[in-house]
Amino acid sequence: MTDTTSNQMWGGRFAAGPDAIMEAINASIGFDKRLAAQDIAGSRAHAAMLAATGIISDSDAEAMREGLLTVLSEIEEGRFEFSTALEDIHMNVEARLKEVVGEPAGRLHTGRSRNDQVATDFKLWVRDQLDAAEAGLLSLIRALLVQAEAGADWVMPGFTHLQTAQPVTWGHHMMAYVEMFGRDLGRVRDARERMNECPLGAAALAGTSFPIDREMTAKALGFDRPAANSLDAVSDRDFALEFLGAASICAMHLSRFAEELVIWSSAQFRFVALSDRFSTGSSIMPQKKNPDAAELIRAKVGRIFGANVALMMVMKGLPLAYSKDMQEDKEQVFDAADNLMLALAAMDGMVRDMVPQRAALEAAAGAGFSTATDLADWLVRVLGMPFREAHHVTGSLVAMAERKGCDLPELSLEEMQSVHGEIDASVYDVLGVHNSVASRMSYGGTAPEQVRAQIARWKEILE
Ligand code: ARG
Repeated sequence: MTDTTSNQMWGGRFAAGPDAIMEAINASIGFDKRLAAQDIAGSRAHAAMLAATGIISDSDAEAMREGLLTVLSEIEEGRFEFSTALEDIHMNVEARLKEVVGEPAGRLHTGRSRNDQVATDFKLWVRDQLDAAEAGLLSLIRALLVQAEAGADWVMPGFTHLQTAQPVTWGHHMMAYVEMFGRDLGRVRDARERMNECPLGAAALAGTSFPIDREMTAKALGFDRPAANSLDAVSDRDFALEFLGAASICAMHLSRFAEELVIWSSAQFRFVALSDRFSTGSSIMPQKKNPDAAELIRAKVGRIFGANVALMMVMKGLPLAYSKDMQEDKEQVFDAADNLMLALAAMDGMVRDMVPQRAALEAAAGAGFSTATDLADWLVRVLGMPFREAHHVTGSLVAMAERKGCDLPELSLEEMQSVHGEIDASVYDVLGVHNSVASRMSYGGTAPEQVRAQIARWKEILE
């Protein structure tokens, strides 16, 4: 005889229900209710297939279909009562289906297990996130292209070690991020293509003796094909890890850009003005406009990469096939996905709103002896000097300018000639920042012409 408190799904083997602590550690309904729509889509596909293959009757399948739609609308309208005793979304839905349609509900789990069910649900959910990430990245790339095009020939300092290095163009700097987010886009698309195999029908781990049609369920759920090994199908969480890997790298790129925006919007730089819409004030310092959105974007990589590490650790020691450890796959991925989408959207808004300060960028571009390399190159090109010697002569001129507290173009010709007698007035042409950037015509260089070519290439890619 079965204890009435034991589980209605497997009570046959049990004499007592679970301890309260057991229920607390075991239940996933608190978070996996986010998989409700995917769970019901999977069940509908499974039910239709069971009828098409003659495993269940058409009338049972029809009852399941109607019933599942009813359950879905109850959930969507917030009228569904989730039960912790029913552990997870799969059993919550099935139990409610039983209440709605009665006996036919009991046939839904034919040739299926929660193991292939959860793998399918979670894959469908992650696939949606990959699609959302793709859309977010495309929008951000388009916003960056607008910024790049508007300031394709605006000059600004380029940095290494955050020390002034050489002048670059604003457009070039924006396009550097287009390349990064473009690779993120590629990673997201790769992951989606690789993950798109359907676990449903793998059953608990070994497949099933029922004559199921896995091609049919795979197709109904938008998968390219059924997964080819049932053991792998129920134990694979690579798809979630690939999503987290791609998300981590993307979040890292977002973080670097956010860091630049924090620096650029400071009073010491004033390279960009961020909009009020993406800034906050201080409760005590009236002058403050803080780049909080950028700072939060910068921080998001912590939790997103944390999720990546956490799931790797959950998976690394698990023997095949399913272990309950794998229930721990979801919360981290949910959190990472939510925060990635938020960070992408916030960056998108900030980029669209931000106003680069052309005059400040240009003034800073010439400071810090940024055209010293151009001067050395001139000595090589015009006077035929070996580069190492040119580097030394230029170093002496920089030291002289530093002593005088001026920039390189402000040294007189006599002063220059005191370091090297053959220098003539044409040297001043290369000391200007606009000439400097215009001369960097190598493929992928910062010359406005090169930058415009890259903008055109990206526009073509996006069409
Ligand atoms: N809630 C479970 C999970 O998220 C569903 C699969 C349970 N499978 C099992 N054999 N107990 O992983």
